[in-house]
Amino acid sequence: MVRARIPLLLLLGILFLASLSVSFGIVHREHHESREEVSVSSGKNNPFYFNSDRWFRTLYRNEWGHIRVLQRFDQRSKQMQNLENYRVVEFKSKPNTLLLPHHADADFLLVVLNGTAVLTLVNPDGRDSYILEQGDAQKISAGTTFFLVNPDDNENLRIIKLAVPVNNPHRFQDFFLSRTKAQQSYLQGFGKNILEASFDSDMKEINRVLFGEEGQQQQGEESQQEGVIVELKREQIREMTKHAKSSSRKALSSEDEPLNLRNRKPIYSNKLGRWFEITPEKNPQLRDLDMFISSVDMKEGGLLLPHYNSKAMVILVINEGEANIELVGQREQQKQQEEQEESWEVQRYRAELSEDDVFIIPATYPVAINATSNLNFFAFGINAENNQRNFLAGEKDNVISEIPTEVLDVTFPASGEKVKKLIKKQSESQFVDAQPKQQQREEARKGGKGPFVY
Ligand SMILES: *[C@@H]1O[C@H](CO)[C@@H](O)[C@H](O)[C@H]1NC(C)=O
Ligand SMILES: *[C@@H]1O[C@H](CO)[C@@H](O)[C@H](O)[C@H]1NC(C)=O
Repeated sequence: MVRARIPLLLLLGILFLASLSVSFGIVHREHHESREEVSVSSGKNNPFYFNSDRWFRTLYRNEWGHIRVLQRFDQRSKQMQNLENYRVVEFKSKPNTLLLPHHADADFLLVVLNGTAVLTLVNPDGRDSYILEQGDAQKISAGTTFFLVNPDDNENLRIIKLAVPVNNPHRFQDFFLSRTKAQQSYLQGFGKNILEASFDSDMKEINRVLFGEEGQQQQGEESQQEGVIVELKREQIREMTKHAKSSSRKALSSEDEPLNLRNRKPIYSNKLGRWFEITPEKNPQLRDLDMFISSVDMKEGGLLLPHYNSKAMVILVINEGEANIELVGQREQQKQQEEQEESWEVQRYRAELSEDDVFIIPATYPVAINATSNLNFFAFGINAENNQRNFLAGEKDNVISEIPTEVLDVTFPASGEKVKKLIKKQSESQFVDAQPKQQQREEARKGGKGPFVY
């Protein structure tokens, strides 16, 4: 009974207590008014926070772009063991470029964060090209040969891919057809006899056409590429993108067309924020992967109310802007040996997020996000089928307000009626003002310079 009380109290505490002092890089204890003590992890000690400068490893880079992969989740913390088989890949490329044809031993869910991409999926019986804009997503099944054009004359392309490796729980490989200065062609892996018989040609010819012989570059004509991201001429782009299809609203439930997230009606929307989402129930590609995808816009000064996902683990990628995040978990308390009982203590994980950062929200862990500038973030939900988002404050989707008054009576120190009254005070839902109105009124009375002087 007592143990059930504490987390709820603290959740309400997060809502109504003023901001707390925080120090970086160390786990420390702090006191607040409710006399509870909460451990806080921030900076490097927050295992759910992946700062983009520190945790991405560059797989490939040249003057036209780069490919980076995020550190394994399970290596960072045991608390994310079940994300072992998911890897986050970031791809950026300059205008008028091509990522050369290749395949990988992983299923990908590819999402365009900014710019335009023309993605071509090649299969034994044909190929499909799709024009993808910001917020468009496309599943690329493992082993599918694909190439990716940035057709724009001015804008960079930024893509995030969630990779689900098939051969190995946490590792995957790209197989490129071309031999470049950066890597060999996988066709070079075969011996001379196999290649000669397979192409019914002699090795000299095969080398010349497919792999490029030593010293050939000086001779002009068929030169070897510098790397896996190459520059294209406009005519080449026009040719490559001629038959590309755009994503459309009606393609939402189609088996293989791109998913358009941001042309749909948001699931939550008010003056402080908009939340776009596609769930596995609504789309076969996502059903295959058991994932949801969300794109969320928030205005500066908005707060995404505390809530938790019932069963989905969320990988959040900051696309634009800055935010403070607070995640609440529990961890086993270190105690003296004599005490036999398992005991858990509430733990706050906080971070200041900015562009390209990644943050993990485990299933059932309550979270709140304070947008300190205009903000856009993208989220992949893993294990998403039948996931429920349970809000802990606000008018709608509030799980606490569904608890009967008689039960609230014995759950909290105050009477159930008083608890209900407190819950009803927040009249907005999902996205609210990050400054409590009460405080604004006080500031106004004191002649404060807040933006909400009435
Ligand atoms: C996308 O690119 C445009 C133009 O380069 C830029 O103005 C915009 O801020 C970018 N948006 C995001 C979300 O990065
Ligand atoms: C959100 O952040 C702003 C700026 O740091 C701060 O003034 C405000 O109190 C924060 N609000 C909440 C609810 O954390």
